Amino acid sequence: MNDDGLEGVVAAHTVLSEVDGAAGRLVIRGHTLDEIARSWQFEDAAAALFEGFFERAPDAASLRVALGRARREAFERLQPGDEAQLRRLPPIEAVRALLARLPDGDDLATALRLLAGPAVYTGAVMRWRLGVPALAPDEGLGHAADMLRMLHGRAPTAAQAAALDTYLVTVCDHGLNASTFAARVVASTGAGLASAVLAGISALKGPLHGGAPGPVLDALDAIGSAAHARAWLDAAVAEGQRLMGFGHRIYRVRDPRADALKGALKRLSAEGGVDAARFALAEAAEQAALAILREKKPDRPLETNVEFYTALLLEALGFGRESFTCVFAAGRTAGWLAHAREQVQKGRLIRPQSVYVGPEPAAREPALAH
Ligand code: ACO
Repeated sequence: MNDDGLEGVVAAHTVLSEVDGAAGRLVIRGHTLDEIARSWQFEDAAAALFEGFFERAPDAASLRVALGRARREAFERLQPGDEAQLRRLPPIEAVRALLARLPDGDDLATALRLLAGPAVYTGAVMRWRLGVPALAPDEGLGHAADMLRMLHGRAPTAAQAAALDTYLVTVCDHGLNASTFAARVVASTGAGLASAVLAGISALKGPLHGGAPGPVLDALDAIGSAAHARAWLDAAVAEGQRLMGFGHRIYRVRDPRADALKGALKRLSAEGGVDAARFALAEAAEQAALAILREKKPDRPLETNVEFYTALLLEALGFGRESFTCVFAAGRTAGWLAHAREQVQKGRLIRPQSVYVGPEPAAREPALAH
C-alpha cells in the first residue's frame, strides 16, 4: 500500500467539521452546508468555529465589531515601502509576507488580527498591482462587504456582498485538508496562531489544493467556446494533465461546495452580476470534463470540486484570478485558527513515524573507504 499521502489515516478528532466523502456531505459545527451557504455571513461562521476555543469567544454580533477593529489594526501595519517591494510577488506570497508581520500568540486578539489580515492585504496587494493606493477598511461594514470595498474602492451591492459571504462560509472549514493539517502540526509545537496560519497559507497555495481556481479560468479561456470544450479537454487528459476543478481526495461524489457556489452564482446572475455567456461556457466545459473523466479514468470517480465554481464566482465579483487563493485563505483562516486552538487544547505534539528505506551504513562503508 502506498501510504505516502496518509490516505485513510485518522490524525485528529475534531468538533469542528465533518466531510463525508461517500455521501457528499459537509457539516460544520452541527450545521449542514446547505443551511450555512444560504443563511450565514462570514462573522456567523467565525463565531461558530471559535466557540469554546477562546476565553470569552464572541457571538457573531460582537465578532463583527471586533473584526472591523482588527481590519484597521492589520491595515495600520502596512509600511511605506511595501507597495514597491510586494507588488511584483504573486499575490498569495505578498499576502503571506504581510501576515508574517502580525505578532504570534494564542489569544483572541491575535486570532482576530490574523482573521482580518487576508481580507485587508488581498485588497491592498491587488490595488498595488494596478498602481493605485491601498484602501483603509470601513469598520462599520460586514467583513465580506468591506473586503470587496477595499478591492474596488466602492461599496458592493447587497447581492455581491451576499455572494462573497456565501463563498467565505462555504470554504471556512473542511476537515483535515492539507492546509489545516499543516496548521495543526505547527500549533501542536506551541508555536502560536500566526505560525499556524502561515503554515496553512503555505500549504494552501499549491495547485493541488487552493491554487486550482486560477488555472480553471485559464482552461476556460483556452477552450474559448462550448463547441471546443470536448476536443481541448480530451487533448489535455491525453497529455497527462489534470483537469483543474475536478477530483478530490475524500469526495467520491460531487463536492457539495460546488453546488453551494453554483447556487450563489445563480443568485448573483439573477441580479445581472454574472456574464451569462461565461456561465454557459463553464457549464458546457464541466459536462464535457465529467464525460471525459468517466471515460478515461473509469477506476476513479472524479467529480467537480469546490474550485470549479469558485473560479466563476470570484471572477464575477471582480477578483483577478491571481488573487483567488488569497480569497480562499480569507475564508479558511477561520478554520485554521479554530483547528490550531483545538490542537493546543489537546496538548499533544503531532509527531508521526517514518519507515527508513535507504541504504544501511554497513553497505556503504567500502565505497566510502576509497
Ligand atoms: N484530472 C485528471 N485526472 C485526475 C484528476 C484530474 N483533476 N484528479 C485525479 N486524477 C487521476 C490521476 O491522474 C490518477 O489517475 P491514474 O491512476 O490513471 O494515474 C487517479 O485519478 C488518482 O489520482 P490521485 O492523485 O491518487 O488522487 P488524489 O486523491 O491524490 O487527488 C487531487 C486529489 C489532488 C485533488 C486531484 O484530484 C487533482 O489533482 N485535482 C486537480 C487539482 C484540483 O482541482 N485541486 C483542488 C482540490 S479541492 C481543494 O483542495 C480545495
